[in-house]
Amino acid sequence: MHNSWMVVMVTRSLLPALFAAASRAPFASATLSSRFQRGVATMAAEAFTKHQVVPDVLASNPPAKVVSVKFNSGVEANLGNVLTPTQVKDVPEVKWDAEPGALYTLIKTDPDAPSRKEPTYREWHHWLVVNIPGNDIAKGDTLSEYIGSGPPPNTGLHRYVYLVYKQNGRITDAEHGHLTNTSGDKRGGWKAAKFVEKHGLGSPVFGNLFQAEYDDYVPILYKQLGA
Ligand SMILES: *[C@@H]1O[C@H](CO)[C@@H](O)[C@H](O)[C@H]1NC(C)=O
Repeated sequence: MHNSWMVVMVTRSLLPALFAAASRAPFASATLSSRFQRGVATMAAEAFTKHQVVPDVLASNPPAKVVSVKFNSGVEANLGNVLTPTQVKDVPEVKWDAEPGALYTLIKTDPDAPSRKEPTYREWHHWLVVNIPGNDIAKGDTLSEYIGSGPPPNTGLHRYVYLVYKQNGRITDAEHGHLTNTSGDKRGGWKAAKFVEKHGLGSPVFGNLFQAEYDDYVPILYKQLGA
């Protein structure tokens, strides 16, 4: 009792002083914020290396910045955290710090098909949208519609990797065509790096990833895909 009362007293008496110090030190807080930004940037690249997205998806040059990927179930991708297929079944809200007037390509891909140990179908791609003005994905051209995560039973954790590239101009890809969310055709054996090279997209500017393994949503997804 006595101790917590003391904490309240000390906190109360310190707060005005802290606020005053903060408002007198704008330069200090600007430095802090840019240091924080650099820290976050390093974290994205570190996570891509730690989770071996480099070299399994990208030969080099992991993205420096994080793309925000939030699901309506209340969870979000956080540089390799573990989520469930149930939590990520619906199209997420994806945001990045877009340059005004620029066009972007968004990729979601799974290098661990059918398993990370034996990825004979590496990669199985889940989402591909090009010509996105800024980060307004709805205004982009969807080449492959969003499909949730469907790791087969007993194949362990799969990595689901989000990549955002800045385009130099508009992209068309008749060869790829339009893949719907009601079939798994042409999704496997795909390579983000090949698509990127074909369209001269360079290195990703933003990235993120989560991991997931089988749960009881997966059979529902397979049904949707006609499998
Ligand atoms: C599949 O895509 C259509 C749009 O083409 C969308 O209306 C529908 O909600 C999607 N279904 C799922 C399960 O994501």
